[in-house]
Amino acid sequence: MSVGTYNYRKESRKISLSLLQSIGFQDQGFGDILDKFRIINNRRFHNVTSKYSFPNDEIEIGRMELSHLLLKNAYGSNFSSPVNDKLRDGISVLDVGCGAGHWVIENAKDYPNSTFVGLDMSPIFPTENKPRNAGFIECNVLEGLPFPSNTFDFVHQKFLYAAFSEKQWLQVIKEIARVLKPSGYAEFMEVEPYPLNAGPINKEISEKYVQYHKSNDLCLGIAFKLKDMMDTTKSFGEVKIEKRILAVGKWGGNFGELMLIYLSMTTESSSALMLECSKQKHDKMFKTYFEEFEEYKSSFVYKRFYAQKRQPFIITD
Ligand SMILES: C[S@@+](CC[C@H](N)C(=O)[O-])C[C@H]1O[C@@H](n2cnc3c(N)ncnc32)[C@H](O)[C@@H]1O
Repeated sequence: MSVGTYNYRKESRKISLSLLQSIGFQDQGFGDILDKFRIINNRRFHNVTSKYSFPNDEIEIGRMELSHLLLKNAYGSNFSSPVNDKLRDGISVLDVGCGAGHWVIENAKDYPNSTFVGLDMSPIFPTENKPRNAGFIECNVLEGLPFPSNTFDFVHQKFLYAAFSEKQWLQVIKEIARVLKPSGYAEFMEVEPYPLNAGPINKEISEKYVQYHKSNDLCLGIAFKLKDMMDTTKSFGEVKIEKRILAVGKWGGNFGELMLIYLSMTTESSSALMLECSKQKHDKMFKTYFEEFEEYKSSFVYKRFYAQKRQPFIITD
């Protein structure tokens, strides 16, 4: 808890402790909780030095679970790197920005010989009822990963598009390369911010999202740049990309219908802060946006980027 100030309930207002005490305020231990989170438009957000724009409440955890199920279904797997055999034998794996830990928990169950560590700046991951080979750490990756170099065989990171500036992306990729063992795999999954076959309102709103994030120095279009950035670090061999184009709306069957629900949860999550928007206002504003996905048969492009860390050069005489 920070000294002397309290994030007092809504709108993360900092109030001097002595001022609060002058009207009889006593610290009853809620300070930690109030310091840890901010409430904006009835949604709970992190309170870390980071511009990450999504909430971290129960609704958001539900959204993460739905995306985990949808993407696993679309790809037929939880990752694209060729690490299946190694995972069966037993390796160490890190998931950066693990959220509620769905990816970590499921893989820990699938590969009991391997060890999985999930890391997130918001402590929304489970602390109990988890496989014994899964653990979680509260940490802001922008302050560095708390592991020695060459620790992990596989590092995974999914959907951090609303978290970093371009400069920070490069920093995070380098940090991931540092903690990877030589020949280990790094894998990132991201989504392009502009839907394919977008209608006019759809285009307008997508652009608004990109511009809002740009004005906050967040690189929402990271899916267009990630391969080049990985190449820039010179830490990896060939970067491979596995792409899926996913229909959004009933025109895409059951899957598309669920994608539309997932999208509405996503816009609701990001609008709470970005548009300072309540759920009611959101539903009204986004009605045409969602209808256009059906009318224009729009879809989103998802990409997995994966590559092996280069072996260090060994100089022999
Ligand atoms: C959209 S969620 C994705 C969560 C998870 N990877 C998944 O796919 O379900 C992004 C997560 O990244 C975390 N995050 C954002 N910035 C971070 C940072 N600087 N350090 C650690 N975690 C961060 C957020 O707290 C959030 O849980």
